[in-house]
Amino acid sequence: MSQPNDLPFSQSCENNKQPILTQLEKLLAHAKHVLEVAGGTGQHAAYFAEALPQLRWQTSDIPSALAGLNSRITQSNLENLPAALALDVDHQSWLLGTWPTTPAPLADPTLGDNALRAGEQFEKALYDTLGKNAAIKAGPFDALFSANSLHIMSEGSVTNFFLGAGKLLAEDALLIVYGPFNYGGKFTSPSNEEFDAWLKERNSVSGIRNFEAVCSIADIANFEFEQDIDMPANNRLLVWRKRAAE
Ligand SMILES: C[S@@+](CC[C@H](N)C(=O)[O-])C[C@H]1O[C@@H](n2cnc3c(N)ncnc32)[C@H](O)[C@@H]1O
Repeated sequence: MSQPNDLPFSQSCENNKQPILTQLEKLLAHAKHVLEVAGGTGQHAAYFAEALPQLRWQTSDIPSALAGLNSRITQSNLENLPAALALDVDHQSWLLGTWPTTPAPLADPTLGDNALRAGEQFEKALYDTLGKNAAIKAGPFDALFSANSLHIMSEGSVTNFFLGAGKLLAEDALLIVYGPFNYGGKFTSPSNEEFDAWLKERNSVSGIRNFEAVCSIADIANFEFEQDIDMPANNRLLVWRKRAAE
């Protein structure tokens, strides 16, 4: 869905941004630099960066989502909201903990995206986004936030999301995830069950994740579970803290 001025737009973001902000004001009271994974329309990034000026809010998304996301960031014109970076949780730089180190430029920069393999397309996008923001220090991050992303990604990508976050974030950093979750394999509402069916029809790898499974992966990635906050419309805000390296 788009707004009249053609910025990407999500009604659910409009509905949930203030309830999420109310929680982030407490959770991020001491944070300075937040990484957002799967920034989508940028409505969250723009709203949170404006309301929390003490923070640098670094949003990101997969290459195909960057143009729309960056349109909103440009329009927001906030000093603490730099241009979005390319971040795909399935890319090896994320899994190895080397993201967002600038990749080497492609041997032939004139090659169009269609001529590049998937990994090369991502590297080109990351190079382009970092290149435009050479002066911006992309990390370190003391918190990571992601909304409505784990039920879109495949189960494998959800695992990669946590494993990469575990590599990137330092001890004590917060990992905050917003969205719907199942408990004990059960939906928390009929509307979540309908939403899950709709997601799977759209893409068979999507689906509402089990809280317990997500907690197990987070544990393996070295995150200590801290809070499960009840949010409007059958959503949750889950909070973990990075443990000290073992
Ligand atoms: C439903 S949208 C949520 C966007 C926004 N956070 C919100 O709350 O409206 C799901 C987002 O997940 C992103 N996404 C999907 N696969 C991804 C991946 N492998 N790595 C990073 N982001 C991914 C999509 O590009 C999209 O922006």
